[in-house]
Amino acid sequence: MSAEPTTRVMPAGADAVAEAARVLAAGGLVAFPTETVYGLGADATNGTAIARLYTAKGRPSFNPLIAHVGNLAAARELAVFDIAAEKLAIKFWPGPLTLVLRKHDRCPVAELATAGLDTIAVRVPNHPVARDILRAFKKPVVAPSANRSGHVSPTTAAHVLADLRGRIDLIVDGGATSVGVESTIVACLDGHMLLLRPGGLSRANIERVLGVPLAEPPASKETAPRAPGMLASHYAPKARLRLGANDVRAGEALLAFGAGLPAGAAHAVRVLNLSPRGDLVEAAANLFSHLRTLDGAGASTIAVMPVPHEGLGEAINDRLARAAAPRESAIHE
Ligand code: TXA
Ligand code: MG
Repeated sequence: MSAEPTTRVMPAGADAVAEAARVLAAGGLVAFPTETVYGLGADATNGTAIARLYTAKGRPSFNPLIAHVGNLAAARELAVFDIAAEKLAIKFWPGPLTLVLRKHDRCPVAELATAGLDTIAVRVPNHPVARDILRAFKKPVVAPSANRSGHVSPTTAAHVLADLRGRIDLIVDGGATSVGVESTIVACLDGHMLLLRPGGLSRANIERVLGVPLAEPPASKETAPRAPGMLASHYAPKARLRLGANDVRAGEALLAFGAGLPAGAAHAVRVLNLSPRGDLVEAAANLFSHLRTLDGAGASTIAVMPVPHEGLGEAINDRLARAAAPRESAIHE
């Protein structure tokens, strides 16, 4: 796929659905209607496609994404459902409800999509076009709202085109979306039910089914380890990170970037390269898994080569800085 794809718009129908599945399978980006807002879809198992998605949106950071699936059975492959989650899914799916749950051991979703978290946001949308695409593609599709970062969510194909023309491959035009605001996000973790984002499904409806009030996400850093804003804690590896490293010291592992390795690399405990050809999209796709692997290699320190700040490099450097932050900011996990 070229860096600047021509964005095609197809009216919803069998041809568009087949083409959407084909483009997704090829690692491309497809905007499609859900009942809430238009989503920008990518193959949830393809880290490179997801890195492209962040680039297309111009997202300054790797906000975790919602994995969209066709039904509850498919959702069970991604996440662990407790009793509360089970009740909500049975009652409200398909529909404008996203559940944040513990990620399943066998979850095939790329780590970049979940931003290295041990939780995952899952939703079964209730829109015939979204459902047809998910059925045809047969794999989970991550889809943030199909707008440029900082803009409002799109409810028509024209909004999507205005924001993302030339940045994505295909827009499936299914008319205006019916709900118009994003899905309600509820976390069901460790027996706690939290309303993380109000949305298309009302709190009252949810509480009626749960039989208990939903808690608000705690405001304080220390008690909100799983809210999106608290991602910092989840990037903290056990090993120390030494950023901007131009050499490798005794006992260090090396997270490399680009073709040339620094002095001492031959003696590194282990070397992994984010992108030998210096490609920031590839580097983003590898970031969380490489950090995890090096952290497990037994070195007390991971030397990290400089990564340029342009494009996705900004988000990569942001995540590296968080991972390198002192442990006090990472009390929970
Ligand atoms: O209605 C919707 O939900 C639309 C349609 C396309 O499905 N999607 C959408 O996605 O609004 P997005 O990426 O714009 O918003 C998803 C929100 C973000 O605020 C993100 O931080 C949060 O979900 N989120 C995703 N995974 C999470 C997790 N594991 N824990 C907490 N929050 C999470
Ligand atoms: Mg959004």
